Amino acid sequence: MGTEHFDSKAADWDNDPDKVSRAQEVAAAVAASVPLTESTRLLEYGAGTGLVSQSLSERVAEVVLADNSAGMREVMSQKIEAGTLPAQARVWDLDLERDPVPDEEFDLVVTSMVLHHVRDLPAVLTGFAALLRPGGHLCIADLDREDGSFHDHDFDGHHGFDRAELRTALLAAGFADVRTQDCTSILKEGTAYGVFLATAVR
Ligand SMILES: C[S@@+](CC[C@H](N)C(=O)[O-])C[C@H]1O[C@@H](n2cnc3c(N)ncnc32)[C@H](O)[C@@H]1O
Repeated sequence: MGTEHFDSKAADWDNDPDKVSRAQEVAAAVAASVPLTESTRLLEYGAGTGLVSQSLSERVAEVVLADNSAGMREVMSQKIEAGTLPAQARVWDLDLERDPVPDEEFDLVVTSMVLHHVRDLPAVLTGFAALLRPGGHLCIADLDREDGSFHDHDFDGHHGFDRAELRTALLAAGFADVRTQDCTSILKEGTAYGVFLATAVR
């Protein structure tokens, strides 16, 4: 999938209260599941408008916001200028399916509602492993396996994830101590779609 869909949604993304509250729920689940300290270097991958990091930024030292959509990156840059995101936050144009892995190291990688859009999951999970220090944490919030009805636009990604299959993929990418828990749900056209939080240690 190209970036046109998210480019076109970026300016209005935060006007949807459900998206804002879901990101807050994901951030709360992350904060309850992994250590956040004054020295934590956080990378949010597929950060969109940076909503999840907005809720975590006061509890970490450093935030890098990565997304392959120019529209989303523009919104995040505006938020940094406005002070909604930390002044020191950096915005990266990064697609781990396509780009070399940046030569930086993080304590925590968070990705929310992104991986079902990714085709080459092993490449992206291996990229996360390379970006984390040994002992660093990965947090993945995403859809549980669904019947394909979730997306009403041109979509060629995953119809959610089977938690056991994702665990196997994480172990293959070099992660350990994989845990999953219910995180939130998304109500769409009368159907509730489950969202899990998976955590793993590099
Ligand atoms: C459903 S949105 C979620 C945005 C944000 N994480 C949130 O929870 O509000 C998915 C985001 O992932 C980004 N994305 C999709 N595929 C990507 C890829 N291969 N590399 C980087 N970002 C990607 C999109 O541009 C979009 O901003």
